[in-house]
Amino acid sequence: MENIDYKELGFGYVKTDYNVRCRYADGAWGVPYVSESEEVSIPIAASCLHYGQEAFEGMKAFRGVDGKVRIFRMRDGARRLQSSCRGIVMPELPEEMFCGMVKQVVELNAKYIPPYESGAALYIRPLLIGTTAQVGVKPAKEYLFIVFVTPVGPYFPNGFGISDFVIMRDYDRAAPLGTGRYKVGGNYAAGMLPNHIAHKQGYAGEFYLDAKEKRFIDECGAANFFGIKDGAYITPASSSILPSITNKTLMQLARGLGLRVEQRPVAEEELAELEEAGACGTAAVISPIGRIDDPVRGVSYQISKDGQPGPWSTKLYKAIRAIQYGEAPDTHAWTTLLDI
Ligand SMILES: Cc1ncc(COP(=O)(O)O)c(C=O)c1O
Repeated sequence: MENIDYKELGFGYVKTDYNVRCRYADGAWGVPYVSESEEVSIPIAASCLHYGQEAFEGMKAFRGVDGKVRIFRMRDGARRLQSSCRGIVMPELPEEMFCGMVKQVVELNAKYIPPYESGAALYIRPLLIGTTAQVGVKPAKEYLFIVFVTPVGPYFPNGFGISDFVIMRDYDRAAPLGTGRYKVGGNYAAGMLPNHIAHKQGYAGEFYLDAKEKRFIDECGAANFFGIKDGAYITPASSSILPSITNKTLMQLARGLGLRVEQRPVAEEELAELEEAGACGTAAVISPIGRIDDPVRGVSYQISKDGQPGPWSTKLYKAIRAIQYGEAPDTHAWTTLLDI
């Protein structure tokens, strides 16, 4: 076990010992190999550097109450990366190869998996980049796939807490027929400025409305949105949001807890009727929402009336964490157990 103060660790980067890589050339994937270097050497004209031909994933491995290590929804990550590859014309990584490399990198860096008691996790970052040297806009012929890991601290070291968000009417993250549904770097570049402004204004993050009509909720920063109303779990259906694996998980758990699930366009005005709301994603699982401001229209939606996360959000949060940490049975087969 590496000597790290996991409670003090945020969502950042700590170098670990190994990463696993695989190259694509001449129309085929090569053999995965282990690297001890945290650097890559690619041509200055590589297509990922200029034209953003790159995609990535994010998932976590947890050390459970029983001492075993569980990777959460690894196969869903493999399939979403394949979808991102189709979206920006990159070769799809075979699911078995993706999963094999993910398991191997976690096993090789086992000493960085935070202990159960810390509430921290090992973040897994698969990354695929186009490496062909070219200055014309066209898909690369060569690619490099890398999976690395880094320990990340508990998102809520002082307990599950609420945050306030702001609607960014002056910015769009993605267009309805653009790349918002893929996990590609360009989407995150588009969100840097609005995110920076939201933080400067004291908000935890920014909300994007649909770019066409500016009427419906799309996403909150790098997280999906959900609300609870009249016994229903409501989450936006939109062509410009990333299909969050956490959201998919929460929808299934919500059904199991007796909530109806509605995946449909969610108009901004409906925020006023929500009993609870949250941003969801791998990093925090759920960030319960206190208030959402729309400064351009001069409207505020006070969602949490008592400054506390609501009962359904709390139940959902506890349910997913219990599966991730092996405290509850994994009846949906979401976790991959590693014997390390
Ligand atoms: C834009 C965006 N939306 C939503 C999510 C949440 O997705 P997931 O639950 O798969 O982490 C992420 C995080 O990965 C994201 O980057």
